[in-house]
Amino acid sequence: SHTEKTVNEKLFAVCELLENHIEYYNWVGFYFKNGDKKELKLGPYVGAPTDHTIIPFGKGICGQVAVSNQNFVVPDVSAQDNYIACSITVKAEIVIPIFVKGENIGQIDIDSNTPNPFTEADERFLEFVCKKVAKIL
Ligand code: SME
Repeated sequence: SHTEKTVNEKLFAVCELLENHIEYYNWVGFYFKNGDKKELKLGPYVGAPTDHTIIPFGKGICGQVAVSNQNFVVPDVSAQDNYIACSITVKAEIVIPIFVKGENIGQIDIDSNTPNPFTEADERFLEFVCKKVAKIL
């Protein structure tokens, strides 16, 4: 049959599930390393369209996670100097790297319109989601 979902359809479904069910997740998307280029490329996402479809390594919260290989929780985006604003409604952001065979190959990026909403429970939950995602890539 031809009903099997593609990888991007599965990733989009993950975005929809998270954005629909967690009220302070207002933009949910994936960025992936773009071949051998030192940049991230936007993958499936749910929320306001963004101009930032390509992000150089080191730039913004996402670009910093591409080089740090660490979770990045931002309780207040206005307090960050290396931050790329996508929407003026966004107050906070969380980015969790995705590892395949120990290599940081991309990330899940979540924006919130609620100030300081993310806890360690979000980090643990999203690490779990990223481990599941890694298996379908
Ligand atoms: N705020 C991110 C850019 C991506 S948008 O949130 C969709 C950053 O600073 O890297």
